[in-house]
Amino acid sequence: MLQDIYQPNPEFAKTATIKSMDEYYALTKKATDDYEGFWGDYAKEKIDWFKPFDTVLDESNAPFVAWFKGGKLNVSHQCIDRHLDTRKNKAAIIFEGDRGDVQTITYLDLYKNVNKFANLLKEDFGVKKGDRVVIYMPMIPEAAYAMLACARIGAIHSIVFGGFSSEALKDRIEDAEAKVVITADGAFRKTKPYMLKPVVDAAITEGSPVEKVLVVERNNEEVTWLAGRDYSYNELIKNKSTHCEAEVMDSEDPLFLLYTSGSTGKPKGVQHNSAGYILWAQMTMEWVFDVKENDTYWCTADVGWITGHTYIVYGPLAMGATTMMFEGVITYPDAGRPWAMVENHRINQFYTAPTAIRVLHKMGEDEPAKYDLSSLKVLGTVGEPIDPTAWKWYYEEVGNSKCAIVDTYWQTETGGHIVSPLPGATPIKAGCATLPLPGIIAEVLDPATGEIAEVGETGYMCITRPWPSQIRAVWGDEDRYIKSYFADVKKDGKAVYFTGDGAKYDEDGYITITGRTDDVINVSGHRMGTAEVEAAIKKHSNVAAVAVVGKPHELKGEGIFAYIVLKSVPMEHKDDIADELETMKEINKIIKIEIGNIALCDDMVFVPDLPKTRSGKIMRRILRAIAKGEKITQDTSTLEDPSIVGIIEDLCKAK
Ligand code: WT7
Repeated sequence: MLQDIYQPNPEFAKTATIKSMDEYYALTKKATDDYEGFWGDYAKEKIDWFKPFDTVLDESNAPFVAWFKGGKLNVSHQCIDRHLDTRKNKAAIIFEGDRGDVQTITYLDLYKNVNKFANLLKEDFGVKKGDRVVIYMPMIPEAAYAMLACARIGAIHSIVFGGFSSEALKDRIEDAEAKVVITADGAFRKTKPYMLKPVVDAAITEGSPVEKVLVVERNNEEVTWLAGRDYSYNELIKNKSTHCEAEVMDSEDPLFLLYTSGSTGKPKGVQHNSAGYILWAQMTMEWVFDVKENDTYWCTADVGWITGHTYIVYGPLAMGATTMMFEGVITYPDAGRPWAMVENHRINQFYTAPTAIRVLHKMGEDEPAKYDLSSLKVLGTVGEPIDPTAWKWYYEEVGNSKCAIVDTYWQTETGGHIVSPLPGATPIKAGCATLPLPGIIAEVLDPATGEIAEVGETGYMCITRPWPSQIRAVWGDEDRYIKSYFADVKKDGKAVYFTGDGAKYDEDGYITITGRTDDVINVSGHRMGTAEVEAAIKKHSNVAAVAVVGKPHELKGEGIFAYIVLKSVPMEHKDDIADELETMKEINKIIKIEIGNIALCDDMVFVPDLPKTRSGKIMRRILRAIAKGEKITQDTSTLEDPSIVGIIEDLCKAK
């Protein structure tokens, strides 16, 4: 099928950072001809080094790699101090609260706030270089100060998304052995206060590594204070000095951990280090969003996810941009909220997830037309493939058919964008991430041969050379790093990085991401491991076995579908619907406690058994097909009991 092609807006292209496909190809050629020269030159140009690096890339211990060895820098200096000469009065962060309260934080304000915060962590809590600090915060400026304060003193932050439960928080605190937690009493959602501190209290139990908890008082609701452990940020920050010397960090000193779901076991602590990460965060801001000096850029993510790290805080600040931070809910008070904000703040680049676009479309199809959105230049999407309906509405109604839509493909482990259009150069096709960014050797490979996949054939999305913002380690587990990312695909006999996603080329060499190839579900643009959800469900005393799969969902992209075998109900003649509903409620309650609301099941069906091979392996492909309502075409003869397939199908139909 011939697809419509959207050429870049010629007016926009004139002043874009990368202005044409010729420029794009010149850059990719430079990167392939002289990979280290390409990266070394950018590293010299973009980073304000305390001491220059000795080597560009060290692959001697591959797949563990080192970039810019010998170089010394500090990421908070890169994001703040170096801008003070030219931008001290420029807005660094514009914060809009849930209730519409607006606060503008200049680069000089940011400098002072971060330095005071850094002094607090050092002086009052004894936080040192290399210590882990967990941040469990709402979307308020103090979350950004906390991140940058950690970076300033060389502490490694690990942000846990505020929607995660106390059990999930506890797991992450303990895995990272964090000695400090930074949180808030709570914040506001739909003008009502909600709480975070009680979740932290529940996560710190006997034997916890946590010594101190810092509480930002945001909503001033009543919370409990444990003497000697809990301290008020608002009190301690008062008399801190506005100067704190930035710790001299090595290029490869860790910057942060961010836990993300894998196909097996507990979430992994993805480790990003200093120089390579900040370099690519900054470069992709300049290339992909094309942010100019006077622009106001808004990414609607939460700092609890990688998008919030790279594209709300680190990337924009590293380049000296103005970044919006939003505490509220984009559909409150109505689905015109983001468009009102675009008009009010004259937003130039807007970055969100397909799931948000679908919700905004559904709830407020005509809302964009009510506002002046003429400031918009670039629209971005991230997190999952975007469907044609949502794309078209975003392009026509929000972008007035003049803004490029950058469909940015990447993941927690890649630190920044990998495959994405460049708004002034790339001819765009709806729903397609298009081409690898210059310097990123992203290839769709046939997993069996390691050869480049044929046009139209689904292969594995791989990155065949190390890149600066690549994951450096899975915290505390070398083996898992290798097994998770470098065990599935070999090219020319060498293990290459595999993203876990399937992808295919079209006749123009454009890449379309087809989705995860493993047992990871993409719920509203966030990764959820089926194993994690299954482990939670198994905690219900009446559950004998469970298998969880993803099922296409109109708004979320994928929903969570659970097949559950109960211990005590003879499923063939179950008639007690009330009992069944009660069990479902109990199970969702457990999920809420173990993981959080984001992992609640959209569908549950009680089945007498799961389709297993004779060796006991659950045939998830069959369960995925049934969840989608597809006809079962795969061979079921290897199943221990092939008749179970028909029984499960009937039970699903009856629902
Ligand atoms: C997974 C990464 C990247 C930040 C937000 C999520 C999927 C991401 C796209 C896109 C199709 C996408 C992939 C990827 N994904 N962007 N533009 N088109 N799929 O980060 O939680 O690490 O999830 O999201 O499956 O592996 P994450």
